[in-house]
Amino acid sequence: MKILVLNGPNLNLLGAREPQHYGVQTLADIEKMLTDEANVLGVEVGFFQSNIEGELVDAIQKAVGVYDGILLNAAAYTHTSVALRDALAAVKLPTVEVHLSNVLSREEFRHTSLIGAVCVGSISGFGADSYRLALHGLVNRLG
Ligand code: DQA
Repeated sequence: MKILVLNGPNLNLLGAREPQHYGVQTLADIEKMLTDEANVLGVEVGFFQSNIEGELVDAIQKAVGVYDGILLNAAAYTHTSVALRDALAAVKLPTVEVHLSNVLSREEFRHTSLIGAVCVGSISGFGADSYRLALHGLVNRLG
């Protein structure tokens, strides 16, 4: 089983970016933690981060036939991107929406997710552990 971990805009700045919301772990730290966790679960993980919406759409399209599912932290595009939503709906790869912070306890514009309805589930508010919990949920779901 292969899982794509896809991260959107500004998540390349994790570690330095608003640590009160996003913690002190870098994206490299999170990717290392997920690689270790994937080894324990006996699955493979691949990683991609982009600040560019179209590159994330391309990554979702290219995942077909290569990956069995996606962990997606679309970051700010969660709240704005019809293109990402449509890409997920088109490829039909089981996807878990991930957020480090609890988006529902933050500004109102973060309460709307355009991608949630085309995901199998959502994990929000557990910091870097959100990714680990999402990986477990997706692997269990995929069986
Ligand atoms: C985020 C939450 C989004 O609202 C925000 O734009 C991000 C990160 C999170 O992981 O908590 O960039 O997706």
